[in-house]
Amino acid sequence: MRTPIIAGNWKLNKTVPEAVELCRQLEALLDGAVDREVVVCPSFTALSAVQALGLVTVKHGAQNMAAYESGAYTGEVSAAMLRDVGCQYVILGHSERRELFGETDEAVNTKARLALRSDIKPIICVGETLEQRRSGETEDVVLGQLTRDFDGIDVEDAARIVVAYEPIWAIGTGETASGEDANTVISAIRRKLAVLYDADTAASIRIQYGGSVKPNNIREFMEYPDIDGALVGGASLRADDFVGIVQCS
Ligand code: PGA
Repeated sequence: MRTPIIAGNWKLNKTVPEAVELCRQLEALLDGAVDREVVVCPSFTALSAVQALGLVTVKHGAQNMAAYESGAYTGEVSAAMLRDVGCQYVILGHSERRELFGETDEAVNTKARLALRSDIKPIICVGETLEQRRSGETEDVVLGQLTRDFDGIDVEDAARIVVAYEPIWAIGTGETASGEDANTVISAIRRKLAVLYDADTAASIRIQYGGSVKPNNIREFMEYPDIDGALVGGASLRADDFVGIVQCS
């Protein structure tokens, strides 16, 4: 049985006091009473203050990490450092990192292995552009990313990974894939995972939808049994919106 996971990707938003305030509000509003995992991913600078809050319901993670363990990599933050500040998750391969910062599947794969070694669960993002969707390449693109991102990761580790299917054209645009379209791709991802691993492993891996998820459209996705939650950007920046998404039936 998969526990749904709702994760907030705060991107380049929230100072430390703002992050602390939002986390306090979320914890108070949710008050332990959720049957799904709730994760927020603030900026690196806020992680230690969030850890110090000692939240029970709301877990925290990072938005990126280094593809190296340590050494002369100015400006990078390692998996062990994230573990130090209580991160249980790290978002990897977000389309903004792929597009704006040249992150490759090879880097995503390396980072995922390092994260798992430090007991941090990767949330690996995959998704197609509008052009790719229009030319019928969606599944090829997404399953290609998936295969490269999971390359060489053993079955026990694979089961700890969360996949986020995020069509790039739906991110921050207010446009969403229909629940049916998201479900079609997510089902294809699960079938591919069964080929890469086995049916039981594929059935245990959580796959989220992401892209303009709001309190008023989350149900459309969650009604599909294959969709195990959401990766939320804009709507994770306000406590009432994010709680509305978490508490959707
Ligand atoms: P959005 O972002 O919810 O603002 O579309 C989603 C994401 O980038 O993960």
